[in-house]
Amino acid sequence: MSIVVTGATGHFGRLAIEALLRRGVPAGQIVAVGRSVEKIKDLADRGVVVRHASYDDPESLRAAFAGADKLLFVSGSEVGKRTAQHRNVVAAAKDAGISKIVYTSLPHAETSRMILAAEHLATEQALTESGIPSVFLRNSWYLENYNIQGAVEHGFHGAAGDGKISIATRADLAEAAAAAIAADGIDQQVYELGGEGVTLSELADEVSRQSGREVTYTDLSPEKYAEFLVGVGLPEQFAAVLADSDKNAAEGSLYTGTEDLEKLLGRPVTPLADAVRAALA
Ligand SMILES: NC(=O)c1ccc[n+]([C@@H]2O[C@H](COP(=O)([O-])OP(=O)(O)OC[C@H]3O[C@@H](n4cnc5c(N)ncnc54)[C@H](OP(=O)(O)O)[C@@H]3O)[C@@H](O)[C@H]2O)c1
Repeated sequence: MSIVVTGATGHFGRLAIEALLRRGVPAGQIVAVGRSVEKIKDLADRGVVVRHASYDDPESLRAAFAGADKLLFVSGSEVGKRTAQHRNVVAAAKDAGISKIVYTSLPHAETSRMILAAEHLATEQALTESGIPSVFLRNSWYLENYNIQGAVEHGFHGAAGDGKISIATRADLAEAAAAAIAADGIDQQVYELGGEGVTLSELADEVSRQSGREVTYTDLSPEKYAEFLVGVGLPEQFAAVLADSDKNAAEGSLYTGTEDLEKLLGRPVTPLADAVRAALA
């Protein structure tokens, strides 16, 4: 009963593999897949099967998935290329006879107007069309998207207005993904996953409270926020995607309002205050 995890060389995939190991899945039944596999040599040393594959290379995906039963499909990071890449993953999973897929998606993928939503929705549709029983984990924003320590000096900037964002730690979301893929069968097809909903002003207030410094949130127009991001070194296209995400977050696109994360974790979500404390430590 082996489980393939793609994106295993990234932050989320590694945390999900650690969570699978903690749940008692034998290392030899976990197949960790990514391109820069030198990053996960330590997992190979612990008995995890490590295989190289690229989402751009169908043959490498078929070889990586061979003999596996389940797939934790961590979405790729190359925005704009992912619809084709993810279709390659779904086709290879079909060829390999994978019997269950858990995919990391985006909140409200079928109605979200975020630029990022299109590739996730196309992937969910490809999974549905494949006929492979699939679960969509629509993850809201990681706390790690925010530079908590940097904010103590420079404050937060964004364009999310008073929109509540269901911020969760990446570790909680990865543990939930491990629970979803480890489970037999499928209890629920779509999970809208996030922590407590907070505005970016409320996040700033929490960092103020804990750091003892006045931490501000500066709300900008999406255009000014994109300019700000380019000013701190982000590529223009990525800055535009992040500004668009914030613009939509202002209207609630990243607010989940469910208890789905608790349900998968089988315990309360890590409180934001605890996560901020850990980030400041
Ligand atoms: N919810 C959120 O707040 C949030 C924030 C950022 C990203 N995300 C999404 O969640 C995913 C996981 O997050 P993360 O923090 O783990 O991101 P990450 O650390 O950047 O990891 C991305 C992973 O995707 C793999 N990847 C990218 N392109 C690939 C390709 N063409 N072929 C094979 N593997 C490829 C990378 O493999 P290599 O390093 O080996 O190339 C890496 O393992 C991201 O990829 C993105 O889709 C969500």
